[in-house]
Amino acid sequence: MATVIDLAPSILSANFAQLGADAKAALEGGGTVLHLDVMDGHFVPNLTIGPPVVASLRKTVPDVTFDCHLMIENADEFIPAFAEAGASWISVHQEACVHLDRTLHLIESHGCKPGVVINPATPVHMLDDVLEIVHHVLVMSVNPGFGAQHFIPYSLRKVEALAGIRESRGLGFRIEIDGGVALDTVGDIVRAGAEILVAGNAVFSQGDIRENASKLLQAARSAAAVKASPRLRRTATAPRSTKSDRHRRQT
Ligand code: DX5
Ligand code: ZN
Repeated sequence: MATVIDLAPSILSANFAQLGADAKAALEGGGTVLHLDVMDGHFVPNLTIGPPVVASLRKTVPDVTFDCHLMIENADEFIPAFAEAGASWISVHQEACVHLDRTLHLIESHGCKPGVVINPATPVHMLDDVLEIVHHVLVMSVNPGFGAQHFIPYSLRKVEALAGIRESRGLGFRIEIDGGVALDTVGDIVRAGAEILVAGNAVFSQGDIRENASKLLQAARSAAAVKASPRLRRTATAPRSTKSDRHRRQT
């Protein structure tokens, strides 16, 4: 079955003075999920938005999936407010949650899809026991806190590992990646098995937001199509055969 690729523009790199318009432009360009980064200045060294901003955005874009990425301590205290404000998915960091199972169930009890996030230095096996109860796993491919950082290549191994575990255990969680997703990295990311692609800098920082989103989604979907088709995969990876090669094969 073909992989469903979602582009999740991260408003962290949008112009906060025109957040609604920037978000709409990214969605018109092909964004299918809006990624909202919530930072508390404790778990990560930056401060961003809280439930009132989510609620305002919800009025501007009523129908799209809101993916709230909580980079905060004490997530349990704030989950009800984010759910009330219009979050669709809420993800919390494994490193920030002492009672992760409880927190994931709390998210679900407020009508949202629970996700778990791991930092670049956290191994995938830390999630072994919760993989059955999450809707998505978010692999951080930069250290969280800021946009426009360089993609950390070893994150790809974690995405591959998660895809393998999902297959071998017959689980259904989706795999999301966040940080440094851009035209030059998205092919490898999709080939590794990520399906929800968070992108801030590549969508909002320069040029036309709609066009940036559209090109990125197109590149991701092309990589997914090649991955899914053995015939296309051969064409993309095998060197073109020469006349003498063909001759050799026939003889
Ligand atoms: C970083 C945030 C990301 C950030 C990604 O802590 O979680 O969502 O916006 O930024 P880019 O796409 O600019 O690397
Ligand atoms: Zn994020």
